[in-house]
Amino acid sequence: MPSDAPASYEAECASCHMAYPPALLSQQSWKNVMSGLAKHFGTDASVDPKTQAEITSWLVKNAATRQKYSETAPENRISKTSWFIRKHDEIKPDVWKRAGIKSAANCGACHIDAAKGNFSENNIKIPAK
Ligand code: HEC
Ligand code: HEC
Repeated sequence: MPSDAPASYEAECASCHMAYPPALLSQQSWKNVMSGLAKHFGTDASVDPKTQAEITSWLVKNAATRQKYSETAPENRISKTSWFIRKHDEIKPDVWKRAGIKSAANCGACHIDAAKGNFSENNIKIPAK
C-alpha cells in the first residue's frame, strides 16, 4: 500500500470492505469504479466531487503497472481478473461460501495482513468455517 494514500481513501473506501491496494487493478478499471460510485455493487458509495477527484487521481497514479495485473477487470472486480482466478484456483467453490469468508472480495478473511497490502503466501490462514 503506497504511503501517500489520501486520508479520504481510508475514510471513504474502507468502511464496507478493506482499502484495496491500488496496484491490484488497472488505471481503466479504477476509473470505471470511481465513475460509478452511485451504483457500486448494489450500494451507493458516492462521495463529493472534490474527494472523488482526489481519490481517482491517487488510484490511477498507483494503479497496476506490471503486465499481469493490468488487464481491465471484468465487473471492475479484482476478484474477477484472470491473475486472481489463477492464483486462487486451488480453493474449492464451497470454501468461498464459508461464514468466515462469504466473498472472494473479503481478502482479509484469509490474507491476515491484507490491510497492510501483504498477500504473501506465508500470511494466509483460511477460516475453517
Ligand atoms: C457503502 C459501502 C461501500 C463503500 C463506501 C465502498 N464500497 Fe466498494 N464495494 C462494496 C460492496 C458491497 C462490494 C462488493 C463486495 C462483495 O462482492 O463481497 C464492493 C466491491 C468493491 C470492489 C471490487 C472487489 C472485488 O474484487 O470483488 C472494489 C475495487 C471497490 N469496492 C472499490 C471501492 C472504492 C475505491 C471505494 C471508495 C470510493 C469503495 N469501494 C467504497 C461496498 C462499498
Ligand atoms: C479463501 C481465502 C482467500 C481469500 C478470500 C483471498 N485469497 Fe488471495 N490467496 C489465497 C490463497 C490460498 C492463495 C495462494 C497462496 C499460494 O500461492 O500458495 C492466494 C494468493 C493470492 C495472491 C498471490 C500471492 C503470491 O505470493 O503469489 C494475491 C496477490 C492474492 N491472493 C490477493 C488477494 C486479494 C486482493 C483478495 C481479495 C480481493 C484475495 N486474495 C482473497 C486465499 C485467499
